Amino acid sequence: MMRYLMCRPDFFGVEYVINPWMDGNVGRARAEEARRQWEGLHALVSARAEVSLIAPASGLPDMPFTANGGLVAGDIFVPSRFFYAQREPEVDHHRAWFRSAGFRVEELRSGAAFEGEGDALFQPGQRLLWAGYGVRSALETHRDLTDIFQVEVVSLRLVDQRFYHLDTCFAPLPGGKVFYFPPAFDDPSVETIRNRVAPEDRYEVGEEDALNFACNAVVAGDAVIMNYASAALRERLNRWGFEVLTTPLTEFMLAGGAAKCLSLKLEQDLPPPAAGAPPVQSPVRECTLELSGHLLSTGLMNEALDVVTDSGGSFSIEKFEPGARRDMVSVVRLRVFAPSEARLADLTRRLVDRGAVVAEDERDAELVEADADGVLPEDFYSTTIYPTEVRLGGRWVEATGQRMDAALVVAPDGSVRCTLMRDVRRGDRVVCGVAGIRIRARRPRVSHDDFGFMVSGVSSERRVEVAVEQLAWEMRRIRARGGRIVAVAGPVVIHTGGGPYLARLIRGGWIQALLGGNALAAHDIEHALYGTSLGVDLRRGESVAEGHRNHLKAINLVRRCGSIANAVGSGLVTQGIMYECIKRSVPFALAGSIRDDGPLPDTIMDLVVAQREYARLLEGADLVLMLSTMLHSVGAGNMIPAGVKMICVDINPATVTKLTDRGSLESTGIVTDVGLFLHLLTQRVETAA
Ligand code: ARG
Repeated sequence: MMRYLMCRPDFFGVEYVINPWMDGNVGRARAEEARRQWEGLHALVSARAEVSLIAPASGLPDMPFTANGGLVAGDIFVPSRFFYAQREPEVDHHRAWFRSAGFRVEELRSGAAFEGEGDALFQPGQRLLWAGYGVRSALETHRDLTDIFQVEVVSLRLVDQRFYHLDTCFAPLPGGKVFYFPPAFDDPSVETIRNRVAPEDRYEVGEEDALNFACNAVVAGDAVIMNYASAALRERLNRWGFEVLTTPLTEFMLAGGAAKCLSLKLEQDLPPPAAGAPPVQSPVRECTLELSGHLLSTGLMNEALDVVTDSGGSFSIEKFEPGARRDMVSVVRLRVFAPSEARLADLTRRLVDRGAVVAEDERDAELVEADADGVLPEDFYSTTIYPTEVRLGGRWVEATGQRMDAALVVAPDGSVRCTLMRDVRRGDRVVCGVAGIRIRARRPRVSHDDFGFMVSGVSSERRVEVAVEQLAWEMRRIRARGGRIVAVAGPVVIHTGGGPYLARLIRGGWIQALLGGNALAAHDIEHALYGTSLGVDLRRGESVAEGHRNHLKAINLVRRCGSIANAVGSGLVTQGIMYECIKRSVPFALAGSIRDDGPLPDTIMDLVVAQREYARLLEGADLVLMLSTMLHSVGAGNMIPAGVKMICVDINPATVTKLTDRGSLESTGIVTDVGLFLHLLTQRVETAA
């Protein structure tokens, strides 16, 4: 005979809002109807199981939901720790009831939220506890449950506020069966369920069942009792040998609960542990990290906590010293929990990328030797654009050649260099894991002024002029001190009539290197020779007859000369961007691609070589102008460390956002026609020069 604990709804009501079901329903539950519905459920359950009652308490309107009071197995009762203060006083009533009923009360060690059987369901006949977390209960309590009950605890993360407790969307049944609503869980959790339960033993309900609390079911004898069951669910449960009994619980649904919530199991069908079995260990892992900086004003604190939660982890703040003034930094010590070793590694990696340092035992970085040329050890650390230090022999060593998506290789002399995967040699020592890595993520304080100076963001329309003015000012300063400005340009620069302006900037000594592709040079030279760009006469804005051949003719002529330099030297090309580069000895790199016509003799069709050239020309750049080319801008962006200002100009806001979002905080996006932009910029730098 199964045993349940229930509580008469004498003081039931919706008096506050702690879940989406309660929203809009405060004061709307009808006491008389609720009592009738509860009696209906009680009659069905008590006909098939033994029901004990706990006395209701006034002022505790959710107390009829006894499933949330705690969790029972054998003679052990683990009291809940409610997430919301409104329900916390219920726990004392439960503690007292269980004590007097002869149970041993075991408190959770972690002190985090745990809402009892609402979030923890034993699989009948197995030593297996399905445990939910992410909305109400905290992951770290799953470790306590493992220790206390010595069963395997499978953590399932809930991601839909409407299904805030595991028992709202998951129902284990005798015989190893389960039925559940997959969208209530994150993908890894659905995966876990599917891996652990054979297809013929599980049934995935649809929205109709889920939203009518079909999963919130009480099992009594051979009966499954719930508020509602669709024909399909009924059919499946019958096939599995269960009788399906529905009884209306609509008044309780106003509070976000139904059949299962209204009863707490007093006895589990828990087989004894195998003789001589080793103690059960929880897969939940933890790690302590420290983070310091302007955590509050930059929003980094919130971001870090969100990273933990969004990666399926949980956290507790062990120490927090807030920067009391705007000029002071904050320091936080975070203890993070993840459902497995692998998930913890993933989570800590994300925090380390935001500047956190693994605090535990102040370890040196872990080094693993590459076992083949051009191949990294599996667990390699991949770099960001931010200055990075590696702890070796107790000393922090700053990496050189900082760029994103590289590995950290430790040279025999102890120096550390950002190294591309393909450049790693067998025997190189590669930094792995995340311990002993420190990143200085320099985040500017979030600026709320509309016209903050060169702050990241996307400007458009009226802001363009302001942005260009600031940029011109910056370019004058860079030129005055002999700094480097690199332009990355797409053929749109030519199509929009920006060519002559970019040429003028090069002639004026404003650009120290030019990066682009075959098309940039092809159309620039086409324009220099024929006045067209892709066959369009740029002065008149019309297509010229046979104009579609013009860029091919231009490429062909240069090919005959052997190089762009020769084409300029021989007097063939007398103006334009490439002309100015040759005349002013401004180095350029043209990276090839699959769609190139020709190509021009100068275009580098070996992309590994082209990447190397780009990187060489970007070295020491102070400012990079990205002019309407997503492909080459992304390529360049990958090589640029934090601290280099990037200006991304494109008519398409999505392109600008994509480029400015790539981690660099010194990037400014300008949504405008690149031809107009270059015109304006040329005027601005020249007037004040
Ligand atoms: N109003 C209650 C709450 O939000 C309802 C609890 C329902 N219980 C359950 N096990 N799902 O806490």
